Amino acid sequence: MIPFNYLGWAFKLFGKGIYPDWVFEALYRLVKNLNEDDIFLDIGAGTGVLTEYVYTKNYKPTYIAVDPAYGMIKHVKNPVIKIVAKAENLPFASDIFSVITLGETLHHIQDLNKGFKEIYRVLKKGGYLFIFDFDPTEKKGKLIYNFEKLFGEPVNFFRPEELAQFLNQFNFKSEYVKYGYRYILIARKLS
Ligand SMILES: C[S@@+](CC[C@H](N)C(=O)[O-])C[C@H]1O[C@@H](n2cnc3c(N)ncnc32)[C@H](O)[C@@H]1O
Repeated sequence: MIPFNYLGWAFKLFGKGIYPDWVFEALYRLVKNLNEDDIFLDIGAGTGVLTEYVYTKNYKPTYIAVDPAYGMIKHVKNPVIKIVAKAENLPFASDIFSVITLGETLHHIQDLNKGFKEIYRVLKKGGYLFIFDFDPTEKKGKLIYNFEKLFGEPVNFFRPEELAQFLNQFNFKSEYVKYGYRYILIARKLS
């Protein structure tokens, strides 16, 4: 497995560089109108690249970052609430989050069925799940897939159209935008 617990310093230094501007722009459109009664959850938040970006754009909601690696999440800046947890077992009440993000985290989740059941449970009706990940059928996506496989990671990579279909069974409606090997998928909880 990739030793995330020891890599917090590297992600804090270089993590933002992994995200192209169009990812931040799409996320901004999703969060700009959130208010004081909204809660934003970043799953597999790492050192907080996405959460900290959103916070600088809209300070009104409550921000929560979860990650199983304390060595990553300890770098997330206040006032984000930091909790050590996995997607498969989220320590929250049901139907409370307005937006949930998975930034380069989806393919690290071991039990995807359990993870998505949990995500669906804690998301509000009409809430959004925002996913940034890599298409394993593209050249660079394949490289990332092979690299992570070497480390014994779960390598749960999808093509965006496959992921959209997979999410349908959890009653999400999805749209995606793909640029080369990278894509974002935004899924809305229907009921
Ligand atoms: C590539 S890092 C991305 C971190 C951060 N989202 C970013 O973009 O910088 C993947 C993160 O997923 C976390 N992770 C691994 N397994 C997980 C799981 N089952 N549930 C939630 N997060 C997990 C790792 O600890 C790691 O911090």
